[in-house]
Amino acid sequence: MKLVRTIPEVRAEVGRARGDGRRIGLVPTMGFLHEGHLSLVDRCRDSADFIVMSIFVNPLQFGPSEDLDEYPRDLERDLAFAEERGVDLVFAPDDRELYPTEPTAVVTPKRLADRLCGLSRPGHFEGVLTVVAKLLGIVQPDVSVFGQKDFQQAVLIRRMAEDLNIPGAIEVGPTVREADGLAMSSRNAYLSAEERERALSLSRGLVAAVRAYREGERDVRQLETQIRERMEAAGGVAVEYVSIVSADDLEPLSRATDDAVAAVAARVGSTRLIDNTYLARPDAGLARLAEPD
Ligand code: PAJ
Repeated sequence: MKLVRTIPEVRAEVGRARGDGRRIGLVPTMGFLHEGHLSLVDRCRDSADFIVMSIFVNPLQFGPSEDLDEYPRDLERDLAFAEERGVDLVFAPDDRELYPTEPTAVVTPKRLADRLCGLSRPGHFEGVLTVVAKLLGIVQPDVSVFGQKDFQQAVLIRRMAEDLNIPGAIEVGPTVREADGLAMSSRNAYLSAEERERALSLSRGLVAAVRAYREGERDVRQLETQIRERMEAAGGVAVEYVSIVSADDLEPLSRATDDAVAAVAARVGSTRLIDNTYLARPDAGLARLAEPD
């Protein structure tokens, strides 16, 4: 595995691999890798045989009062995990490499960013789409892989690629969880033991909704209430939103269907956490927890 820091080096390495007839895959990350990120590498390897992982804490997607400075970073550890998992090339640029000057053009979502996480994080998805468009332009992968964990992000990236005719397939891998259901996240590192226990209420709420849906509940208000009640019962969980939306256009639903996704966000202490699930098709971790007792 090779580590490169500059755009010309990435282009040279990728060009060589392509010249050898290899299919290029890209897994963009902000580092502090966990099994969720690494599962995307596995997924990428199903349809590519030269895997590029970017590791870049993108300042453009953090608001002025957000955790850019505290965001956990450990490149040494990340490199060891990436190598073990079979990544071929890590691209870890510094801020100046990606943003040498104040950008003239950015990618601003016109729709779908005005809800869910977009409400409390103005400008966040503009930062995400801009950096992802740049990474796709730099690497020009045959396939790139994103996580369902950041559901709204994945939808927006897919739509951007369609709207801007960016070549290459975009795939979404399922959320990977700790054994007790907590969705893996680099930000879980912020949680104290007590907060971590409270944080479990997000996945427990989703489990309750998956079960209720399986038992026939279709009324979105009822399903949302079940989730919210679990979260509020934990104490010390400030619910930001509980919302059941249609998976492809993020429109709020009144009756749940097989394409409905339940999405939640909350603050536990000062840590903002998100989670989501398809009601009809939970990921393996949630499905196991939602099995009948
Ligand atoms: P980051 O939070 O590091 O996540 C990188 C990728 O890993 C994203 O596609 C995210 O959805 C996925 N991921 C995170 N936790 C996961 C989990 N538990 N299971 C499965 N996949 C998971 O998301 C970002 O970085 C940034 O916004 C980025 C897309 C890199 C742009 O800066």
